[in-house]
Amino acid sequence: MGHRDKASHHKAGRDGVAELPEVPAIADHGGQIQAATAAFGEPAEGWLDLSTGINPLPYPLPTLAPELWTRLPDSELFEAARRAALAYYGAPADAGIVEAAGSQALIQALPRLVPRGRVAVVGFTYAEHERCWRAAGHRVMETNGLDDTAGATVVVVTNPNNPDGRLYGPLQLGALADRLAADGGLLVVDEAFADVTPGHSLATQAGHPGLVILRSFGKFFGLAGLRLGYALGAPNLAQALAAHLGPWRVSGPALAIGRLAMEDGAWIAAMRETLATAAGRLDRLLSDSGLTIIGGTALYRLAETAQAEALHAALARQGILLRRFARRPRWLRFGLPPDEAGWERLARGLRDSL
Ligand SMILES: Cc1ncc(COP(=O)(O)O)c(C=O)c1O
Repeated sequence: MGHRDKASHHKAGRDGVAELPEVPAIADHGGQIQAATAAFGEPAEGWLDLSTGINPLPYPLPTLAPELWTRLPDSELFEAARRAALAYYGAPADAGIVEAAGSQALIQALPRLVPRGRVAVVGFTYAEHERCWRAAGHRVMETNGLDDTAGATVVVVTNPNNPDGRLYGPLQLGALADRLAADGGLLVVDEAFADVTPGHSLATQAGHPGLVILRSFGKFFGLAGLRLGYALGAPNLAQALAAHLGPWRVSGPALAIGRLAMEDGAWIAAMRETLATAAGRLDRLLSDSGLTIIGGTALYRLAETAQAEALHAALARQGILLRRFARRPRWLRFGLPPDEAGWERLARGLRDSL
């Protein structure tokens, strides 16, 4: 190994590599089947994973042209998927738009492009927002609502919120974006679950300065593993994100499938109804079991109970995985079962546990 330059700002690690900066650890997320298996054992019937908000009825995968796998995605593929996304989201055709490998990649990139400042994350919410703004060196505070965001240069709102489904109206958010923009600030609206509440989306205002909207393809279309998401915003911000994320930031298959799905208006309309019906059914099942529903969206429901920890463990021992929240110990989030067998299993599990 070469000699260590004492004047260097980087400390050399054991392997001679500069030590990496300290970054807050990745928080616990739903869908961690391996960890659940380690804690509760492998269920005989396999896991019924209700720990995420991913639609269990995915968009049917088309057969793809072989070139999509063998060639790098070309600009026409990117453009066609962007046009489909702008139309599906209801954004103006001239709004800035950039794709990424899931909206998570955008949540990570955005804080690195914005001058360091004071960031208000409207909580309690998806933990990655706070983690990523902090990791990029911003001062981050969690607020309870939009009213206590004064003094922030950046405000982050998940709308509808995960996990409680809290919804702000487009007028209220639009006014906040204008106020922030007047001082060079930014409103970030994470619309990862907005596919089921399209009337509340801010996408029609995309392109206004001071506003960026993040959309996840994976949740509503049930294809989270495909890794596709979009940012909609002012053209200069979209360009900066694109440059930061680099070329071929998503795969050709993701672009082709994303485009097909977002152009499939019949599937989208039918799925919105299916999910709304399923969410109503889940509410009835949970309230009949003695749980109190305190919020959610059509993709997940949030229940509150003093027995949350015990119920989580009892269901996990039966192979049914829910989402718990270390900071909200009375809350449990339920995703939708994928089929009748899943519904029956959940009903049985609740009966035997409560
Ligand atoms: C509120 C919210 N935003 C963004 C994401 C990231 O999703 P993806 O990267 O799959 O688009 C998640 C994932 O759970 C989420 O809950």
